[in-house]
Amino acid sequence: MIRKIALTAATALALSGGAVLAAGSEGHIEDHAFSFEGPFGKFDQMQLQRGLQVYTEVCSACHGLKFVPIRTLSDEGGPALPEDQVRAYAASLSEITDKETGEDRSRAATDHFPESGLSNAPDLSLMAKARAGFHGPYGSGINQLFRGIGGPEYIYSVLTVYTGEEKEEAGSPFYGNTPFPGGWIAMTPPLSDDQVTYADGHPSTVHHMAEDVSAFLMWTAEPKLMARKEAGFKAVLFLIVLSTLLYLTNKRIWAGVKGKKTA
Ligand code: HEC
Repeated sequence: MIRKIALTAATALALSGGAVLAAGSEGHIEDHAFSFEGPFGKFDQMQLQRGLQVYTEVCSACHGLKFVPIRTLSDEGGPALPEDQVRAYAASLSEITDKETGEDRSRAATDHFPESGLSNAPDLSLMAKARAGFHGPYGSGINQLFRGIGGPEYIYSVLTVYTGEEKEEAGSPFYGNTPFPGGWIAMTPPLSDDQVTYADGHPSTVHHMAEDVSAFLMWTAEPKLMARKEAGFKAVLFLIVLSTLLYLTNKRIWAGVKGKKTA
């Protein structure tokens, strides 16, 4: 009897697992070893600079980064560009309407990146934190504990896993894309091999460009990631030292009492 119940439970679990997989049409997202993952992970400065280049030359035609102040490009731990380069970069972007004078002027480093140029292209500032690549098993979220939320992996996958299929709906083209919820995306495949020429000679296949721009978008979404890890590390160190001191103090305080007992 007990065995029978156990068996039915197992079948039910297997069935519900199948149902969960069928209901979520999101495709499988490969784990990817990014430099900033793990407790000691750091952003790779050169990779962020390459990602900025991909964003600027390719994605910015449609997508904005309106929550990102341009001056942060010179931040330590980020792309860490020299300040004169950041000023020149700001000036190369589209003009902005000055809030005070109401007139158009060129962008300064203190301004933000432009908004999306294409109305149906979402802003990418926080995309790496807004999407989860990993789920489950069975809604428990354990996968995320070990592999991270998977935002950059999701972006990487959307850029690289086009099925090659195309369809038209209400006059607009859609492209088969397994990681994108629903399986069809309105974004034309944006990357093709050697689309950008990296200054550092890094290869620029679709794989490399997707990887670099995903890392860059993780930085825009969480620029203080490294500082946060460092603060956490310091806090743990501090707690270890404090616990040791408290333990030793406690021992000394009770030494007399305990000493009497044994005597
Ligand atoms: C020709 C315009 C265009 C270009 C260039 C472009 N995109 Fe898109 N992108 C779109 C549109 C439109 C959507 C919305 C698709 C939809 O809702 O079906 C989109 C969606 C996305 C999504 C999915 C967002 C979500 O809601 O999950 C990501 C991620 C993305 N783009 C990243 C990029 C990156 C990174 C680049 C540069 C390598 C890029 N895009 C280049 C037009 C573009």
